[in-house]
Amino acid sequence: MNSGPSSSHSPADVRAQAARRRTFAVISHPDSGKSTLTEALALHARAIGMAGAVHGKAGRRATVSDWMTMEQERGISITSAALQFEYRDCVFNLLDTPGHADFSEDTYRVLSAVDSAVMLVDAAKGLEAQTMKLFEVCAHRGVPIITVINKWDRPGMEPLALMDEIQERTGMLPTPLTWPVGQSGDFRGVLDRLTGEYTKYTRTDGGANLAGEETFAPETAAELEGEAWTTAVDESDLLDMEDQNHEEATYLEGRSTPVLFASAVLNFGVHKILDTLVDFAPAAEARPDAAGEPRPVDAPFSGFVFKVQAGMDSNHRDRLAYVRVCSGVFERGMVVTHAATGKPFATKYAQQVFGRDREVIDEAFPGDVVGLVNASALRVGDSLYIERKVEFPSIPTFSPEHFMVIRAKDSSKYKQFRRGIQQLDHEGVIQVLRSDLRGDQAPVLGAVGPMQFEVVEDRMNNEFNAPSTLERLNFSLARRTVAEDVPTLARERSVEVLSRSDGELLALFSDRWRLQGVERAHPELTLEPLVVS
Ligand code: G4P
Repeated sequence: MNSGPSSSHSPADVRAQAARRRTFAVISHPDSGKSTLTEALALHARAIGMAGAVHGKAGRRATVSDWMTMEQERGISITSAALQFEYRDCVFNLLDTPGHADFSEDTYRVLSAVDSAVMLVDAAKGLEAQTMKLFEVCAHRGVPIITVINKWDRPGMEPLALMDEIQERTGMLPTPLTWPVGQSGDFRGVLDRLTGEYTKYTRTDGGANLAGEETFAPETAAELEGEAWTTAVDESDLLDMEDQNHEEATYLEGRSTPVLFASAVLNFGVHKILDTLVDFAPAAEARPDAAGEPRPVDAPFSGFVFKVQAGMDSNHRDRLAYVRVCSGVFERGMVVTHAATGKPFATKYAQQVFGRDREVIDEAFPGDVVGLVNASALRVGDSLYIERKVEFPSIPTFSPEHFMVIRAKDSSKYKQFRRGIQQLDHEGVIQVLRSDLRGDQAPVLGAVGPMQFEVVEDRMNNEFNAPSTLERLNFSLARRTVAEDVPTLARERSVEVLSRSDGELLALFSDRWRLQGVERAHPELTLEPLVVS
């Protein structure tokens, strides 16, 4: 029997709650200041779910998402979760995108659960590799992006040069909402391009507290800042002439990106980021199902699993499934239907999760993220619903860039080995690739980030009791191909074709040059990029 939401919340209630939600992720390259910004956002807002640093680096203060022992040893975050906070009349859900050099497929998957993204750019470095990869996933999914130029307190690039770079590399038109007063390294404040006013920032001790902010009329700004103000006004006028002004429709379509300037570490410009999300970012809205039919937010409860996490607690190896609520009200204890099997799933142990601080939650609305415990039946991409059936589109598998062969150390443990590989494949921890040539005893594992292999090794050892060895393969690129092209590809030097468990045939190449060589020699072959390559 299902317990519906109708008892305590009217459809109008649910619509109002959905309209208050801003569910987003920060996409950035490591060291751009994502953790610093997350802390600053939570400080300005009222954090509902957590406290402390978002991820810990060696010597930093206690971490909240250091679930696995491995994570603790390395002092970095390899898992994703959600932080919830309130600001003005909105409820924000900030989904964590592990952005370290060892990021994984989960980082990409998180982007299937957000309604918008904040692209954080280091003023001195411009658009870096990982930012571009995450940008591509957002662009592919049509996720609207707000750009924040961070570290303006440090010497960096010219602001107009940064705008050119954004436009050239992303194709989005940058439409700054604020423009810096003072060059990078001399951050005095910002010109608000919508009102023409000047917001002056003042440092506070240690930057740990809220920054001082004062707003002045343009005339006063000119007196206060002299040439720095005039330069800002002139540059803003140049943007005007190029029509680089915010437009809601093009932002929502991903054709333009509002830009803000900030210093996360000094808390400069952080308010403005929150205000921009409240004023312009999309709320939780009707999600299209697999057939393209939108499920209204006030329909009975539905959601989908965008991440499955295991082994967070070595005492009892629970499996946690993160569900993004798409419609209706999630109420703890309700029995939902698992669309893939049609079986009921009891949600007795629903939690709102951010790292170590798990809190039991009682209800959640569209846009919110719920962690379901004991979720061994749930896989990434699975839909859950009550009353009216729905299946949301599956989450794509991303292009692996790292490949290893895995073998059981002890052949008498082969049964455990096979079960472990199958389970990790189902959970989407790793992509499992096979060929007749290699046989079942030594499948190839493909990953977006190398740390996924460490997770596999750890879990094969400790959870499945199947100690395994992993051996690196010299491939870094995968392309989708078709059966009739396999014989030609098989004759090529250092190219291998393997079949993924979802039935796709992947041709692996050592590098871009090898791929280009094969494409030149055999232009007739089907070699299509997978999502994000
Ligand atoms: P990440 O999560 O994107 O990897 O970046 P994180 O916040 O850890 O920031 C990376 C480094 O950049 C940190 O310095 C942080 O203090 C610094 N940083 C972040 N935002 C700003 C900013 O607006 N201005 C300046 N000048 N620096 C900023 P660190 O030396 O690596 O660590 P810590 O010793 O400061 O903690």
